Amino acid sequence: MKASLKACDVVIFGGGGDLAMRKLLPALYHLDMDGLLAPTTRIIGASRRDMSAKDYQDKVRAALDEFVPASKEDTTIWSRFKERLSYVSVNAQEESDFARFNEHGVGDDERDVVFYLATSPDLFGSICSSLAKFKLNQARMRVVLEKPLGRDLASSHAINNEVLQNFQESQIFRIDHYLGKETVQNLLAIRFGNTLFEPLWSSAHIDNVQITVSETVGVEGRWGYYNKAGALRDMVQNHLVQLLCLVAMEPPSRMDSTSVRDEKIKVLKALRPIEGANAYTKTVRGQYAKGMIDGKDVKGFFDEEDSNPESRTETFVALRADVDNWRWAGVPFYLRTGKRLGQRYSEIVIQFKALPHSIFNDESNRELQRNQLVIRLQPEEKISLTVMNKVPGASEGMNLQPVDLNLSLTEAFNDKRSPEAYERLLLDVMRDDATLFMHYGEVEAAWKWVDGIMAAWAQTSERPKEYASGSWGPAASMALPIKDGRNWHDY
Ligand code: BG6
Repeated sequence: MKASLKACDVVIFGGGGDLAMRKLLPALYHLDMDGLLAPTTRIIGASRRDMSAKDYQDKVRAALDEFVPASKEDTTIWSRFKERLSYVSVNAQEESDFARFNEHGVGDDERDVVFYLATSPDLFGSICSSLAKFKLNQARMRVVLEKPLGRDLASSHAINNEVLQNFQESQIFRIDHYLGKETVQNLLAIRFGNTLFEPLWSSAHIDNVQITVSETVGVEGRWGYYNKAGALRDMVQNHLVQLLCLVAMEPPSRMDSTSVRDEKIKVLKALRPIEGANAYTKTVRGQYAKGMIDGKDVKGFFDEEDSNPESRTETFVALRADVDNWRWAGVPFYLRTGKRLGQRYSEIVIQFKALPHSIFNDESNRELQRNQLVIRLQPEEKISLTVMNKVPGASEGMNLQPVDLNLSLTEAFNDKRSPEAYERLLLDVMRDDATLFMHYGEVEAAWKWVDGIMAAWAQTSERPKEYASGSWGPAASMALPIKDGRNWHDY
């Protein structure tokens, strides 16, 4: 990664919160460790709590002990990192509190400033207007907005308009951390850095695309938030739809924010609406019941703290999406995601079509497996291409079997630490590069599509289907591609 040698101030609203401690500060620490922060770059935590800079540094130290255990040994980097850390106590709804940023010298010396809003989206508008009152919205200042950006099209419009009153679109960085994952960026490299795949990348050769983001965790003390969101809003509207866009978009003319985002918007606008009765045949919703994961008993959704037995919020969703354009006509995109499933993994599967004619038509070769490109995002980062191969041995005749050509990124680049998604994205904001961030047009088009599904679900009296924790979701999800004569790729 190219360094961000320009000094800047990174102000984290919600600076003492879970996201800051688990992800943002570990990511900034790693950037510092890799020499990617300018020597005078500062990090300022901001939240309501009264805390001294020393208290904040201690809190960050404890978080690093937990989330970057190796950092305990490296006292040199910690002493440098600690010097960067300070804290400002601000009530986001108290405009006058924002004067403290000026007293603190935020943005002095013409330096760039990144305001990272890791707070509830209800506060985005008021934070931005208070920043503007104190001239903290100049062109060299940017805001990063964490998801969820609203809970439907109308609320996302309202939030966006409030932010736009004080910041220009070019200063707004809407983050989707999936776009910072290494393998997701590698998908762009695979598609547009090789001659091999692009000629095959269409309905002429691809039968279907599958995107799975499977989690073993439950709602984990977030019942209140999650019950208002559900898997469709929490995961599909952003992460899965963004992955779909990268698979389906046309080659952008260059790798810059406008070109990439324009192509993604075209895909989103081409998504066929799933509305009315279609929602019954094209989507499956589920809620996890108790079960077993990794040999341990785990609770059901309704046994979680603060749960409400009336909830219809889905913790699992599977659906068939169609992209109505020339390239993808007739190619289903199957998406699924859920909590408390059997394995934690995320992958994109490109399933190629069957051979037009097989010359290997004896008994042993009746079922020739189709080529498959599997892009695994996590837990391991790897790309594999399944090809048919002759089984070695003179007595085997022409017996063919599928073999995986594996590209393990960890093995291929074994001296390189694979950065966390937030590292790449934070560095990009500091460098003012919005290519891996979402334009409002993308958020808007994704909400339009998701609102249609939500509206159809709201009209049914049917409850989400129960599935055992540790399973692969409701049986109906398995049946979704089977109805079209296809199957989910096995883990
Ligand atoms: C977040 C969701 O955006 O992504 C969480 O709100 C989810 O519910 C998380 O667990 C998954 O991210 P990752 O990177 O762990 O796959």
